[in-house]
Amino acid sequence: GGDGVLAGRHVVITAGPTREALDPVRFITNHSSGRMGYALAGACVDAGASVTLVSGPTALDVPAGVERVDVQSAADMHAAVMAVIDSADIFIGAAAVADYRPATTAADKIKKSDGDTSLALTRTRDIIADVAAAHPYLFTLGFAAETTDMQASARSKRERKKLSMVAGNVVGPEHAFGRDDNALFVVWDGGERELAKASKHELADQLVALIAERMAAEVGL
Ligand code: PMT
Repeated sequence: GGDGVLAGRHVVITAGPTREALDPVRFITNHSSGRMGYALAGACVDAGASVTLVSGPTALDVPAGVERVDVQSAADMHAAVMAVIDSADIFIGAAAVADYRPATTAADKIKKSDGDTSLALTRTRDIIADVAAAHPYLFTLGFAAETTDMQASARSKRERKKLSMVAGNVVGPEHAFGRDDNALFVVWDGGERELAKASKHELADQLVALIAERMAAEVGL
């Protein structure tokens, strides 16, 4: 089942990296291009949903029919998601959100000196865990980006963050980030499925079909 389940639903999706500022000219970030999240946004529109895409800095065009909200930091992304989540039916966290930010952001450019230095980091808030805790009946799809033990991490992230579904992917120089293709290991309560290496657009269509299938199963359609 699952045909037509996404029609008329509101989907909120995060995509891309975040930038955590050290000072007005420097930031900490990662290699996410946004492609996986943007492909999911397009696939949800194709399935008849209305989509709000909360996006970190990317070089991508907004897919047709998608409303994009541009953000920079993890804190900005958290606030932008919370501002729209009350009307959502589905939340997808495809963004590579920074887990830490500089403990302070200097107002002026930090000057160099001759000696070494170090950087104090502080934790950011977990957007998808906060969404799932505040809205237990929302369908939540998270990702797990790992360089090792990907399948075990996908299972444990789903349980720890109390998510409906997690899609695990291996990341690194040869995998996932920035590339056009990916492979996913999808876990939910009572099931798992491997989605073989394919373009991010094909995988997005398969993931959206799987979300619809699981939502239909949950309400017994
Ligand atoms: O953008 P691309 O180049 O296409 O690459 C795609 C991708 C590899 C970035 C994507 O498929 C992916 O795996 N995104 C999640 C990356 C990530 O941050 O994973 P994580 O294992 O650190 O986080 C687990 C989940 O919690 C994710 O859904 C993440 O969005 C979410 N999270 C993490 C930290 C935080 N502060 N808030 C969050 O919501």
